[in-house]
Amino acid sequence: MQIGYLGMGIMGRPMALNLLRAGHRVAVWNRTPERCAEAVDAGARHASSPRDCAAGADAVITNVTDSPDVEAVLFGPDGAAEGMARGAVAIDMSTISPDAARRIASRLAGRGVAFLDAPVSGGDIGARKGTLTIMVGGDRAAFDRIREVFAPLGNRITHVGPSGAGQVTKACNQVLCALNLLGVCEAVALAARAGIDPTTMLSVVAGGAANSWSLENLGPRIARGDYAPGFKVKLIQKDLAIVLDAARRLGLPLSGTALAHQYFRSNEAHGEGEEGTQAMFKVVERLGNFRLGS
Ligand SMILES: NC(=O)c1ccc[n+]([C@@H]2O[C@H](COP(=O)([O-])OP(=O)(O)OC[C@H]3O[C@@H](n4cnc5c(N)ncnc54)[C@H](OP(=O)(O)O)[C@@H]3O)[C@@H](O)[C@H]2O)c1
Repeated sequence: MQIGYLGMGIMGRPMALNLLRAGHRVAVWNRTPERCAEAVDAGARHASSPRDCAAGADAVITNVTDSPDVEAVLFGPDGAAEGMARGAVAIDMSTISPDAARRIASRLAGRGVAFLDAPVSGGDIGARKGTLTIMVGGDRAAFDRIREVFAPLGNRITHVGPSGAGQVTKACNQVLCALNLLGVCEAVALAARAGIDPTTMLSVVAGGAANSWSLENLGPRIARGDYAPGFKVKLIQKDLAIVLDAARRLGLPLSGTALAHQYFRSNEAHGEGEEGTQAMFKVVERLGNFRLGS
């Protein structure tokens, strides 16, 4: 297939490389053009604009930050929507609000273009390995038509319902990630303050009912003081704002999620928004007035 890929961030870059490795023809575009270099070296065409990136494509993938960013690359000047042929499929793999996904779907439907919201879980590691979980909302027939585009990117690819359903599922995913991570941070703090080696504690409890992706992947990073992103604090804050807004509209209290949101706000207040989400541990350290390893 011919694929246009917009957004060469931490996620988009390795995902575009996996599509190239699977034999698809890929055009890439990024707002900061230098970030296209790796994909271009691997055989991608460097598009001059979102519109150029979408030209002739069977599927166009957006992988940028938030709802206004997806709308900008699709519908802004020289936007991808202008380059897409009728019958092509637009796929958004960013995490955005379910309402924005539904709005984009109906705008594109007017142009004869189907839209799938297809956010992912599995982090930078899953993006590199092609083992992401992909949750898809939108037209089922369009999903079946371009299913092979998803194959090199993930190993659990599920059509969950109509437009917006993928983003709602991703919002649930983020509730779980944030609260799992809070548990990991508090467990590491307790072990460290009680004189137990956190790495030993993590490897022991990973064998039982307490295991989680956060424990296996972020626990060791916390234990060695590695706060490089991964998934940035400022991005999970965007996602938790989406969750809390959706819950507010439903009149649903989500007090654990609200707490995690406040912890990450403390990260932001300390200038840690560009760090990985495991920096939540720094908030736990500040609350407990201790430092791991000191
Ligand atoms: N990282 C993860 O572990 C992870 C996991 C699951 C889902 N996600 C989601 O995937 C999406 C991308 O995340 P990421 O980690 O790859 O982020 P990132 O490394 O910060 O990259 C963001 C990308 O979006 C582009 N961008 C942002 N605003 C734009 C705009 N207005 N117009 C054009 N391009 C714009 C950036 O372009 P520039 O290079 O020019 O800044 C960059 O290519 C986000 O929605 C995130 O929530 C991330």
